[in-house]
Amino acid sequence: MNRFKTMDSDAFRQHGYALIDWLADYYQRVESLPVLAQTEPGAIRAQLPPQPPLQGEAFEQIMADVERIILPGITHWQSPNFFAFFPANSSPPAVLGELLSAGLGVQGMLWATSPACTELETQVLDWVVELMGLPQRFRSDSDGGGVLQDSASSAVLCALLAARERATAGVMNRQGGRHGLIAYASDQAHSSIEKAVGIAGIGRDNVRLIASDTQQAMNPEALAQQIQADRAAGLQPFWVNATLGTTSSLAFDPLPAIARICQEHQLWLHVDAAMAGSAAVCPEFRHWQQGLEQADSYCFNPHKWLLTNFDCSCFYVADRQALINALSILPDYLRNRATESGEVIDYRDWQIPLGRRFRALKLWFVIRHYGISGLQQHIRRHVELAHQLARWIEADPDFELAAPVPLNLVCFRHRRGDVFNHTLLERVNASGALYLTHTRLNERYTLRLCIGQPHTTICHVEAAWHTLQATAEQLNDDR
Ligand SMILES: Cc1ncc(COP(=O)(O)O)c(C=O)c1O
Repeated sequence: MNRFKTMDSDAFRQHGYALIDWLADYYQRVESLPVLAQTEPGAIRAQLPPQPPLQGEAFEQIMADVERIILPGITHWQSPNFFAFFPANSSPPAVLGELLSAGLGVQGMLWATSPACTELETQVLDWVVELMGLPQRFRSDSDGGGVLQDSASSAVLCALLAARERATAGVMNRQGGRHGLIAYASDQAHSSIEKAVGIAGIGRDNVRLIASDTQQAMNPEALAQQIQADRAAGLQPFWVNATLGTTSSLAFDPLPAIARICQEHQLWLHVDAAMAGSAAVCPEFRHWQQGLEQADSYCFNPHKWLLTNFDCSCFYVADRQALINALSILPDYLRNRATESGEVIDYRDWQIPLGRRFRALKLWFVIRHYGISGLQQHIRRHVELAHQLARWIEADPDFELAAPVPLNLVCFRHRRGDVFNHTLLERVNASGALYLTHTRLNERYTLRLCIGQPHTTICHVEAAWHTLQATAEQLNDDR
């Protein structure tokens, strides 16, 4: 029988160094690659063999296929010309932290399965409370605490489940059933909320999407009225989401007013700051957090705008027992002395899956490598660049801003209407020079350009703006 052959230490070193070299070169050349993958559906798959290899292959051969097959199918999120959606930051210290996590191969479901995995996470999340000026009630030495989730979508589901159990005194977990529970979010809130309400068994029809004002922020009077109406109809309002930095236009819901309503009606308040939350590393961008001290849960994603590669979502609760009550389950095979002592955190009780990665390493590496001042510079640079772009747009009579520019997202449009803007977007993206996306604001097609990639400079933003102007002129000429 053939002996199992692993990659020995020498080969691991050799290929590992080569892979880091490849990535370092990639970061240097990424700017020259078309940002949006220029690939037809199925083209990548067609190049891959239908069956896996019987015998193992040389690592060099695998890497050659990465270059030949995979790279042309990559949309380059790490390109300085990537302005689409919201950013998905990465950085060398984060990549090295990720590599270390994979190398250690820890599965941190229980404190006992790797105490450092749990304790580093607790400490880093407490650091983040201080780093971002978050309420002290989210610290682990209060009744609350923080945990790393894979995504804001998972965080919002956990928040809903905790609130659901609090509202039904644990009955829904044990017996299921309909309880007339009603959740609230603005009509600009992220789709993950409606999805989570469905998954939590509350029923998507039972999310009330509250009208937002012309600035796309939730109208608190409309929220209060809807809650009253639902109460009067014998339903049970239980949960409100407020967004700090909406996906379409980075609008900020008025948190103090929403928090007051939640307090009055004793509703769980979840605050979703998935993208904009990273800006709070700068004290001048913390004013939107006013009212957060009343929130039951909060989430933001360092994997969007804080130099930490996907996945890394910080989720905080003010009452960790509510979360644990909703999610804890202890089969015999997980019992251990540390858990039973009550002295440790077992993060399996703070999330949907049992198993968990050592995510805190990469965030720890990032915070230590850049320091508070490095993280602040990262954010401030992008905000300045976005403001510069907004000034250029305002100065061009053919274009207009479509929303205020509080941070790093610029929403704008050409004055020639929806079809023109749509064609402009498609042309620009097909050029490969940059990548931006669109939304619809006040019923009108709107271009959105988000500046958040670590290597984006004024030159990239200026080039993007010139490409947009030149393409619009060409389109005008074509007509
Ligand atoms: C405001 C907001 N909330 C939630 C999400 C979902 O984030 P995730 O991909 O981490 O689930 C997004 C994604 O862009 C978002 O913009």
